[in-house]
Amino acid sequence: MSDRTGIFAGDTPFEIARRWLAEAEASEPNDPNAIALATSDADGLPNVRMVLLKEIEDDAFVFYTNYGSAKAAELELNAQAAFVMHWKSLRRQIRVRGRIEREDGPQADEYFASRSLKSRLGAWASHQSQPLASRKTLMAEVAKVTAKYGTTPPRPPFWGGYRLRPVEVEFWADGAFRLHDRFQWRNDMGGNWQTVRLSP
Ligand SMILES: Cc1cc2nc3c(=O)[nH]c(=O)nc-3n(C[C@H](O)[C@H](O)[C@H](O)COP(=O)(O)O)c2cc1C
Repeated sequence: MSDRTGIFAGDTPFEIARRWLAEAEASEPNDPNAIALATSDADGLPNVRMVLLKEIEDDAFVFYTNYGSAKAAELELNAQAAFVMHWKSLRRQIRVRGRIEREDGPQADEYFASRSLKSRLGAWASHQSQPLASRKTLMAEVAKVTAKYGTTPPRPPFWGGYRLRPVEVEFWADGAFRLHDRFQWRNDMGGNWQTVRLSP
């Protein structure tokens, strides 16, 4: 009999992740959906940065970014990534590893349209991860795109989502005297998940 009960109970890792995120939304001071996203460059050197997790689907996690950024270049080269989310208020973490594909269709359009006007214009104005001469240069670019697109900027062709389809997900919760609880979910690629409890 599995002792995967309480906060670890669930039929899929997505169901548990959604539940934990909902709890974190009530307890974190800000950005409960922040994830540290790891990629690797052409030399295999790891890279990591925070992004916001925007959707937990029934088989994938989705985040949005600039397709001209360093992370995008790394993801196009090696379409595999990992992320971790950690909530100090809950003393829990979720680790995810998997394969990446672009989300640059209607779903990306819809998410872009839901952002504030300033964020939408900012996406047009920023050549993310490229050298920038000064803050003034950036603000001049914002003024330029504002004059061009007004209040209805379309989604830039260089901006959209990535969908991470996990092969492995681990749920971790703090336990007394460092005797933490860990449950790893592994996808057998036939769509079935196997779970195992890991030593802390
Ligand atoms: C809490 C937090 C959330 C962030 N969310 C995003 C995001 O959703 N998308 C994004 O492109 N950058 C986001 N950033 C900025 C990235 O960390 C990073 O600076 C940027 O994407 C460039 O990374 P790169 O050069 O590795 O591509 C966020 C930063 C922080 C601290």
